[in-house]
Amino acid sequence: MIKKGDIVNLTVENLVFGGEGVARLATGVDEAGRERRMAVFLDGVVAGDEVEAEIVALKRNLARARVKRFVKYGDSRVQPRCAHFGVNVDSDGRVDGRYDAKKNCGGCSWQMLDYDKQLVVKWAEVRDSLVRLGGIPANEVDRILLPTLGMAGDAAAKFPDGPWYYRNKMDFSFTRNPAGKLCLGLHMKGRFHDVTEIEECFLFRPWVGDFLRRMREFFEGLELVDGTVLSSLIVRAGTNTGEVMVNLLVENGEVDFGENWVEVVREFWEAKSEKCKAQSGEDNLVSVFVTHIINKKGQPKRFVEKLLWGRESFREKLRVDGGDAGVKELSFDVAPQAFLQPNTKQAEVFYSLVRRLAGGGGKKRIFDLFCGTGTIAIVLADLAEKVVGIELNAPAVENARANAALNKADNLEWRVGDVGKLLPELAKEVDLIVVDPPRAGLSEKIIDTIGLTAAKELIYVSCNPTTLARDLKLFLGKGWKLDFAQPIDQFAQTYHIETVVKIKMV
Ligand SMILES: C[S@@+](CC[C@H](N)C(=O)[O-])C[C@H]1O[C@@H](n2cnc3c(N)ncnc32)[C@H](O)[C@@H]1O
Repeated sequence: MIKKGDIVNLTVENLVFGGEGVARLATGVDEAGRERRMAVFLDGVVAGDEVEAEIVALKRNLARARVKRFVKYGDSRVQPRCAHFGVNVDSDGRVDGRYDAKKNCGGCSWQMLDYDKQLVVKWAEVRDSLVRLGGIPANEVDRILLPTLGMAGDAAAKFPDGPWYYRNKMDFSFTRNPAGKLCLGLHMKGRFHDVTEIEECFLFRPWVGDFLRRMREFFEGLELVDGTVLSSLIVRAGTNTGEVMVNLLVENGEVDFGENWVEVVREFWEAKSEKCKAQSGEDNLVSVFVTHIINKKGQPKRFVEKLLWGRESFREKLRVDGGDAGVKELSFDVAPQAFLQPNTKQAEVFYSLVRRLAGGGGKKRIFDLFCGTGTIAIVLADLAEKVVGIELNAPAVENARANAALNKADNLEWRVGDVGKLLPELAKEVDLIVVDPPRAGLSEKIIDTIGLTAAKELIYVSCNPTTLARDLKLFLGKGWKLDFAQPIDQFAQTYHIETVVKIKMV
């Protein structure tokens, strides 16, 4: 009988959505004499790893275990690039589970997995979801589902550094360690109140370690008025423009150190070392904000932004393949709270694909549901007489309006509110619907309402293969047919995967 605390030997079979590895543990035999096996989930492993692990949680048919020692490494394991990745392991494979402020960064989960293998595993996860949860026959999925579009291969020209330095936004958190020292970095995996003190980050920019060090020095020496809590430091940098925005989030209390802080931030940029300049090309500071989070009992949290220096937004450009129209260069002004796809170069790949799947121009109407800051609507603007975007978040729609004007797209219409409520009120005449919902996917009501429109084509952009599969099952049950499916890797070194699917009503 397996119980919590047992040490067991396991061989990892594969990786599953969520990034964990799964192994099978023999637990005895059933009445018919067949071997019973329990699925055991483990973090920080790759297929083929043989480990000694401690059972830390147990349910009827599955368990969770923590690796105590790596006995043998799997073939797809590679040396992680970043010093903050993973846990400390000695030469005998033993895992040192003690708190280490420099390790266990929660920013990446798969740096130890060969990149080509990451793409294959992500593809397999999407396939598995479509077959198991979507009820789509395996041969049909295999016919439609293309290999993951990674940051190498076709997209390699956009990623000269390979699958690294791809993010345009990082959110670093402040915390105090048990000794009261102020720490600034990324949340540790599995320890939400602790952060890893980042000295380097290969997902963002080479200068980030130097910048965070300077910020730690400044804030460590600062006397804060009682009740003021430093919350986070958000740094955004346009990949195609090099424009940098820094936004400090402070909770409650008073914020009266703004001017000194701005000086320190600006000095950093003016004095950026030669090494830093060479590594980061033209990156340049354009905007410094402080955001005051007012968090009072019984009241909803409020975010009050104050521009301390520079511009209200930073600009990013997206170069999208416009087919016969050639490359379309679109500009986006991004306010501190506004959403922008975090991987600019791969967003260009994915928006180009959405444009290609939308087909040629001459459409009467396109709906962009869950439109965020309207990027998809703006990318598709010249393909239709009208594109209507629906989005819950009012400031995002303000941003969308401004960006439509910036790109001279005057055939866009925006509705602020819940897609579930607003979609039934819209005219039913529409040629194409694009949906890009949050991780929870669509509701049955939205899928029903889409069925009541005249749309015969739908492009589903999904960041969660499990809810995508669940929703596709409903669509296919109503007579839609799967036409195209393409996983796109927007987040190398993590388990996340975006999928673009096209379905048709035939
Ligand atoms: C994945 S983002 C879309 C991003 C956008 N298409 C882009 O490429 O920039 C999902 C968006 O759905 C919005 N949202 C979430 N629930 C919603 C709802 N019920 N109705 C309308 N919009 C919603 C969120 O505010 C968010 O902007």
